[in-house]
Amino acid sequence: MRSPCVIVVGAQWGDEGKGKVVDLLAGHFAWIARYQGGHNAGHTVVIGGQRFILQLIPCGVLRGVSKAVIGNGVVLDPQALVDEIATLRAAGVDVAGKLFVSTRAHVILPYHRSIEHAAESAPGRLRIGTTSRGIGPAYEDKMGRRGLRVADLYDAALLRDHIREALAEKNAIAAALYNAPPLDAGRILETYQSLSDQIRPFVADTGALLNAAAARGESILLEGAQGALLDIDHGTYPFVTSSSTTAGGACIGTGLAPTRLTGAIGVSKAYCTRVGGGPFPTELAGAAGDALRRRGNEFGSVTGRPRRVGWFDAPLMRYAAALNGLDALVVTKLDVLDEFERIPVCVGYKGGDVIPPAAAGWEALEPVYEELPGWQTPTEGVTRWDDLPLRARDYLAFLARVSGVEIGMVSTGPERGQTITLAGSRLERLLGAAPEAPRASGQSARP
Ligand code: IMP
Repeated sequence: MRSPCVIVVGAQWGDEGKGKVVDLLAGHFAWIARYQGGHNAGHTVVIGGQRFILQLIPCGVLRGVSKAVIGNGVVLDPQALVDEIATLRAAGVDVAGKLFVSTRAHVILPYHRSIEHAAESAPGRLRIGTTSRGIGPAYEDKMGRRGLRVADLYDAALLRDHIREALAEKNAIAAALYNAPPLDAGRILETYQSLSDQIRPFVADTGALLNAAAARGESILLEGAQGALLDIDHGTYPFVTSSSTTAGGACIGTGLAPTRLTGAIGVSKAYCTRVGGGPFPTELAGAAGDALRRRGNEFGSVTGRPRRVGWFDAPLMRYAAALNGLDALVVTKLDVLDEFERIPVCVGYKGGDVIPPAAAGWEALEPVYEELPGWQTPTEGVTRWDDLPLRARDYLAFLARVSGVEIGMVSTGPERGQTITLAGSRLERLLGAAPEAPRASGQSARP
């Protein structure tokens, strides 16, 4: 049997609770790697009442055993990395010797942030509602073949020339298009020289490390950031992030050979949320939306923005499942639905399940709902499937059926322990915790 090389992806618009899931699964893996995005992500992990928000470093480091990789597909703000390392150290987690940052990752520079900020607030521009971290402009420079990579930080002349030449162009654009003040090349150079010294001990050829680890039979978990519907190609374009969030991005963003992969796990809330602009067919407005937002504490972990909330959307989950080849689903925040008398689930769209490629198509979508009875019993902290109220179990079984993906784990609260793991599930087999069994073609009685 091959050692597990498993991808964990968000199956919605991000914020599904991947942080907690990766933290829980990390114990099964020797390596954890991030493959895309940057410090726009905010993976929250609660351990013993202490809340950690990791933006760049894979959540697995909190388990203390895994080796953590920031892959080539990530766009790296070195200041954010230095700050995160310091925060972890202050909390007693030392990543020295455990964290490896790709020489090929692209670097976010201050002008990426300032241009994004100016562009997002410019009159007449489509507002994506970005996290203002400079993620999109850094990826633009990468694809435009004018980016700066981590390895380039250690070539003094290249770094100096790059910053000087890039700034001449960016300052001209910022002044002409957005009337924004110029940035100073000397100060940026000084800052980046110092930051590159600080991150130097972590820099490595991470693609080579991961492929060598896989060849030795070591297990690898690939940690996606954001979610499938924010994917640059397959998401709700243009209201997306600028990277390949779906499972296909994991190999591009780490250099790990696709033939090493053994499975993909999707993470979804028991309902839906999204931050920023863009289509949201099952969005819930008014008092019911406020109630769900309050109960779920749906406020961005990075930006603090209130999240938009809505009901579970099965057509979108089927789309995410197909795109990512999901083997198993983890459903989070079940307890948030505890008080609802009835819980609608979108099971399809009038006129068919076609996921629109264009913005106009989304406006025409009309969700078809099936209402399930709520359980109106607290489920927070429940750790056994059999201890869930029958209606909660029926709700989860329904989600699995309409999504076409088996549920392997249910989260009933932010703490590690507030989790139900379904013994004998496909998820367990993916982790290598149980022997491989032939795949069932339909759904079992359990979710
Ligand atoms: P950007 O990634 O900052 O360019 O933002 C693009 C879109 O992705 C915006 O709608 C953001 O709110 C959204 N986004 C980016 N990162 C996250 C995340 O970690 N969780 C949820 N939404 C995100």
